Amino acid sequence: MRLTLVLGAQFGDEGKGKVVDFLAANADVVVRFNGGNNAGHTVVVGDKTYKFHLVPSGAVRGKVCCLASGMAINPSVLVEEIEMLKRAGKRFKLLIDPRAQIIMPYHILLDGAKEKSARKKIGTTKRGIGPCYADRAFRSGIRFCEFIEPKIFKERLRAALPFKRRELASYGIRCPSEKKILKEFLPLARKLKSYEADVSLFIQKALKQKKRILLEGAQGFFLDNDFGTYPYVTSSHPITGGALIGIGIPPGSLERIIGVAKAYCTRVGSGPFVTELKGKLANFIREKGMEYGTTTGRPRRVGWLDLVMLRTASRICGFTELAITKLDVLSGLRKLKVCYAYKHCGKEHREVPANTFEVEKCRPVYREFKGFKLPEKIKSIKDLPKEARIYLRFIEKQVKVPIKIISYGPERKQTIFNR
Ligand code: GDP
Ligand code: IMO
Ligand code: MG
Repeated sequence: MRLTLVLGAQFGDEGKGKVVDFLAANADVVVRFNGGNNAGHTVVVGDKTYKFHLVPSGAVRGKVCCLASGMAINPSVLVEEIEMLKRAGKRFKLLIDPRAQIIMPYHILLDGAKEKSARKKIGTTKRGIGPCYADRAFRSGIRFCEFIEPKIFKERLRAALPFKRRELASYGIRCPSEKKILKEFLPLARKLKSYEADVSLFIQKALKQKKRILLEGAQGFFLDNDFGTYPYVTSSHPITGGALIGIGIPPGSLERIIGVAKAYCTRVGSGPFVTELKGKLANFIREKGMEYGTTTGRPRRVGWLDLVMLRTASRICGFTELAITKLDVLSGLRKLKVCYAYKHCGKEHREVPANTFEVEKCRPVYREFKGFKLPEKIKSIKDLPKEARIYLRFIEKQVKVPIKIISYGPERKQTIFNR
């Protein structure tokens, strides 16, 4: 029972990388279990900034890093990331589960082509995530264990290519040849082969040895393929159930489930955003919070904190605690708003409706709060201004989950535990 799961409770980019790095001080192993390089997790230590797309953020502290079976791995991005970390002097053990899916060049082309031709765009990261997971479900994906065995890889590729050629041709795009793909992928496979290990087995053995394990979710609850604002979602499951299936662990092994949320809310890509702000206030928060995508550089949409979302995420994920990030970004604002219910057709909603078209029509019901100004140094919750404590208390009361971690700046040390 020494597993701590860290999940995004909003639309991604909540500061999961920072929270994982903070908690990794007391962990032995850090595991990514969903998504691929659509994720961008930032860790800031002193004057150094690390941006992770595939390797778990625990690499900064030299922890054992695992890429579990639920992931979609782009091998060239992974090799680059490993080399970047080596150049930065980071030493860590890396394990890649044989079941993880491989993102192929045609997945990336299909992702881009689909987005380009769609009337209603999802606003994907164009990293091939959707087409890769679609192939997994269709049983034509290529797994890590196949990718690292040249003979099997060739066979799998040969079986997939005729279909991919046809699919891409329907968008007027030529599929890269078998020869070209092999030329790029065989050397990558040679570089990655030694990292193969059954992560599910490794984690369960590590648990028996009383090792402390951190599970690093990518994306956020409302990007979940089932429970998010479908179809404006990703193709994996960034929720508690996704961690179990994305690693291969029984439910009883989870000890803490931490939902990470910003003190406000952001979203990149399309889809409903009930508390979205426009104009001067939105620009102020975007600039102060540096709300630009870690992966794509796109400006993030911003809005007030939405507790209807956190309530739903917490109910389905079973959060045992919350981590609230970016409190500093709200510092200095005269008034703050928090949405605690939605209104639609005279009905009040306390949870996010399942039907995305209904969510699009919901209007936020706000509680207004007095603003606060944070002091430079914050060592404990007591150092926060009274108004900030009232704001946080309201979140706890509405979501019915205690806030255990508060982050007030991008740096590792700008974090407090609320015991
Ligand atoms: P992730 O995908 O959830 O790991 O989040 P990202 O790294 O994509 O985005 C979060 C951004 O906010 C990064 O640039 C972090 O360095 C930064 N950040 C994290 N926590 C805080 C905080 O408390 N205050 C401020 N100002 N920035 C933060
Ligand atoms: P981290 O782990 C924020 C969004 C995309 C798009 C939708 C589908 O850094 O929090 P995809 O490329 O996955 O098919 O895109 O999901 N998205 C993210 N938004 N943070 C992320 O990851 C995201 N990963 C995907 O913008 O709306
Ligand atoms: Mg991110």
